[in-house]
Amino acid sequence: MDILKSIDEMRAKRKAWRAEGQTIGYVPTMGNLHDGHLSLLDLARTRCDRTICSIYVNPLQFDRTGDLDRYPRTLEEDIEKLEALGADALFVPDDSMIYPRGMAHATTVDVPGITNILEGAHRSGHFVGVATVVCKLFNLVQPHVAVFGEKDFQQLLVVKRMAEDLNLPVDVVGAATAREPSGLARSSRNGYLSDTERAQAAEIYRALCACAQALRDGERDIAALEKTGIRRLADAGFKPDYFTVRSTADLESPHDSESAVDWVVLVAAQLGKARLIDNLRVIDAP
Ligand code: PAJ
Repeated sequence: MDILKSIDEMRAKRKAWRAEGQTIGYVPTMGNLHDGHLSLLDLARTRCDRTICSIYVNPLQFDRTGDLDRYPRTLEEDIEKLEALGADALFVPDDSMIYPRGMAHATTVDVPGITNILEGAHRSGHFVGVATVVCKLFNLVQPHVAVFGEKDFQQLLVVKRMAEDLNLPVDVVGAATAREPSGLARSSRNGYLSDTERAQAAEIYRALCACAQALRDGERDIAALEKTGIRRLADAGFKPDYFTVRSTADLESPHDSESAVDWVVLVAAQLGKARLIDNLRVIDAP
């Protein structure tokens, strides 16, 4: 696997691949790789000739500096995992390459509307940081396909909308959420949980499943279902930020014209030192 440590190396690799007529599948990450990340690379490989991953802990998307400082950095293990998987290249830029004028002076990308709700409402500036870095990374890597996890459902929609609005020539593809056997969505932040908390954390998935099942069974009192979800998580020791049923198209409250196939249940809750997010489509996407 080629490890590309500079913008020049990244550009040279991409040019060589493109000159050979190879298609490029790309998975941007912040590292501390787990099976969720690796499943995105597997999907990229089924779609493209070459697969490339990037690892960059993007300071612009963190609203709490403590969170940025303690974000797990495990580059050596990550490289081993990527090599075992057969990824073709890894791009590891640093802050001086991504924000050469410093973050305060960077040109940024703001996707309106959808970024102000849910995660955007709880993490000020988060999606400007995500959209900006993903736009820059797309310009550097110039992939044909980029794979993002449905685990971060709102992020996937933001990136899709950004690519569409800015006419970026990349196919943004969503991949299913990888879960632990308990149902807990795999996440780098699970590492902040104690063993007891990790067992408790599975309650998120159980609450999502119960809500989705009630909707499939025809329950339409969405406000009551949301209240039940919040109470259930609070009773299990979480501090929930939201537990809500939304439209998959725009993450607004379900529209009258829609059926449950267009709905997703989204949750964010703090447990101990970890802020966990997850979601579940009411009916699996076709
Ligand atoms: P990170 O949290 O490292 O996640 C990288 C990618 O892996 C994202 O697309 C995320 O949705 C996906 N992912 C994480 N956990 C997953 C799981 N359990 N199953 C499936 N996919 C999963 O998301 C980011 O980094 C950053 O915001 C980034 C897009 C790299 C921009 O900085």
